[in-house]
Amino acid sequence: MHVYIEDIGKYEGREVTVKGWLYNKRSSGKIRFILIRDGTGIIQSVIAEGDVDDSVFEVADRITQESSVILNGTVRKDERAPGGYEIVAESIEIVQAAQDYPITPKEHSIEYLLPLRHLWLRSKKQNSIMHIRHELIKACRDFLDGRGFINADTPILTPASVEGTTTLFPVDYYGDKVYLAQSGQLYNEATIGALGKVYCFGPTFRAEKSKTRRHLTEFWMLEPEVAFLDLDGVMKLAEEMILYVIGQILEKRGNDLKTLERDTAKLTRIKKPFPRITYREAVDIIKKKDKKFEYGEDFGAPHETIISESFDKPVFIHHYPAGIKAFYMKRDPKDESLSLSVDMIGPEGIGELIGGGQREDDYDILLERVRENKLPEGAYQWYLDLRKYGTCPHSGFGLGIERAIAWICGIKHVRETIPFPRMLERVYP
Ligand code: 4AD
Ligand code: MG
Repeated sequence: MHVYIEDIGKYEGREVTVKGWLYNKRSSGKIRFILIRDGTGIIQSVIAEGDVDDSVFEVADRITQESSVILNGTVRKDERAPGGYEIVAESIEIVQAAQDYPITPKEHSIEYLLPLRHLWLRSKKQNSIMHIRHELIKACRDFLDGRGFINADTPILTPASVEGTTTLFPVDYYGDKVYLAQSGQLYNEATIGALGKVYCFGPTFRAEKSKTRRHLTEFWMLEPEVAFLDLDGVMKLAEEMILYVIGQILEKRGNDLKTLERDTAKLTRIKKPFPRITYREAVDIIKKKDKKFEYGEDFGAPHETIISESFDKPVFIHHYPAGIKAFYMKRDPKDESLSLSVDMIGPEGIGELIGGGQREDDYDILLERVRENKLPEGAYQWYLDLRKYGTCPHSGFGLGIERAIAWICGIKHVRETIPFPRMLERVYP
């Protein structure tokens, strides 16, 4: 019977078939140990000379790394085996013999591995990161679904910018110019009018000129948006979502976190409330370490790192100067120079995980902002319409999935958090 390696413990004493790839092998006298992986786990199989047909032993000797194989044998409990079980092999069939697999079990440089990403994904650590990615996305969706949010996906080919015009990827659309979506937010603001509370989840694109460990040109974003929600409400929502996600990953992907040698104490101790500080308070923290920083400037990567390292949990920074935030941010009625914006900065130097806030809901003011920002009015007509037909206070945020994964996995660079990273200098494989 074909079984998956993650379920092997249920088949103790029984004969099973596993189908997968040769991960590694070693020999000790008249015994061969072969490690087979099938995507769900790795299992050790023991082949002892004399116990099996000579031809089976000969296959075990000949089999090479990453050859595809089908193996039959009996499951045996063994404390010494990685995972606690092993298979006493009775037969092995090589489906295809791989020659000279380029990623040998030794250490390789990132420059060597990136062009081999299609194969690198098979390694143990990368496998764990992908499992955590899957769990994180599932947890975000479960959290929102559990609260009655509707997933209403937003277009990728769009006529207008959301987050500034400098990072747009233009696409020729039958002779017209459209852009790859930077965010689904503007469309979320439309779907809340139909559905109340929504989220979109999909790939977003930024023609980032910067080569940093936090930037991809194609990344995935989860964006909830809620009608009749204010800035405080959106912080609460983000806080609860992050806590839920951490809890789920700690509960369900403990083995993967172990493979990644993640110090999970840093995650378990995260409890609410997350600190909430104003932009002004954040500037005071930054100025202690970087005297040159001036009030009114946007935070760059080094400033985010200073904040990130000053707290052992995620921290909200709100009320940024309006001038450094997007055109759609609502202004603080008490101080027009400030916006009702909020970013969540993650701990351990990871930087900004979430960006969001309360949106401008007044037609005339929003039109003025579109004009001030020299945005093409025609492309935003539908967006302005939303302020004409039953406008209301509303808020939302976007969580950068890759940054969240990097943080939870404890890895420095976002390039390992997505199966095929797209960066300034890389669109292959
Ligand atoms: O702060 P951003 O630009 O916010 C928005 O796009 C809003 N429209 C979202 C909303 O309110 N619905 O992006 C949100 C998050 C950032 O905090 C960051 O985690 C991630 O998206 N992000 C990136 N991740 C990887 N590579 C990039 N180039 C990223 N740019 C933003
Ligand atoms: Mg941002």
